[in-house]
Amino acid sequence: MLKPRLGKRDQLEDLEIREGLDGLSPARIATLYRRAPLLRPVDEPAEVWKMFERSSIVLSAWHRGHVVGIARALSDGVLHTYLCDLAVEPDVQRSGVGRALLAELMSRCKGTELVLRDSDLSSSFYQYMGFRRVDNAWVKNI
Ligand SMILES: CC(C)(COP(=O)(O)OP(=O)(O)OC[C@H]1O[C@@H](n2cnc3c(N)ncnc32)[C@H](O)[C@@H]1OP(=O)(O)O)[C@@H](O)C(=O)NCCC(=O)NCCS
Repeated sequence: MLKPRLGKRDQLEDLEIREGLDGLSPARIATLYRRAPLLRPVDEPAEVWKMFERSSIVLSAWHRGHVVGIARALSDGVLHTYLCDLAVEPDVQRSGVGRALLAELMSRCKGTELVLRDSDLSSSFYQYMGFRRVDNAWVKNI
């Protein structure tokens, strides 16, 4: 069990951060992502599991037996890290879970550039957490 790195507004006691797929399943991930919400192909369990198995870093936050947050990233460990998913259960949002997951993730890929795609729901969070917007990114669906 990892000791969560929590921020100043922490209200959640007994938060546990786990690394890897331990305790996760496509159904648990789907429930969290639907509720957060985070748009991912949660109706396709095999695809969800492939996404998780092929990730470099998977962290989950647990509270009283329930998964309340997930962070998932691809990283080469030297230059680049892409934050694929960060989702927190709505009932415990603003309780330090997202910060704890992000801090733990960043400690695992220190020295790299962390890149992500935001949404209307999360852009102010990333700004608050010290990220800067870039205008030189390109995207192509292949
Ligand atoms: C965005 C999200 C991950 C934040 O997680 P969270 O657990 O609620 O965030 P925390 O409680 O750890 O917040 C850390 C700090 O950011 C602030 N914060 C949280 N959400 C914020 C927001 N939307 N805008 C600005 N600040 C925000 C908190 O007040 C807290 O500040 P403090 O430590 O000074 O008190 C969560 O709200 C979420 O899952 N949203 C829906 C899914 C989503 O949009 N994911 C990101 C797409 S990749």
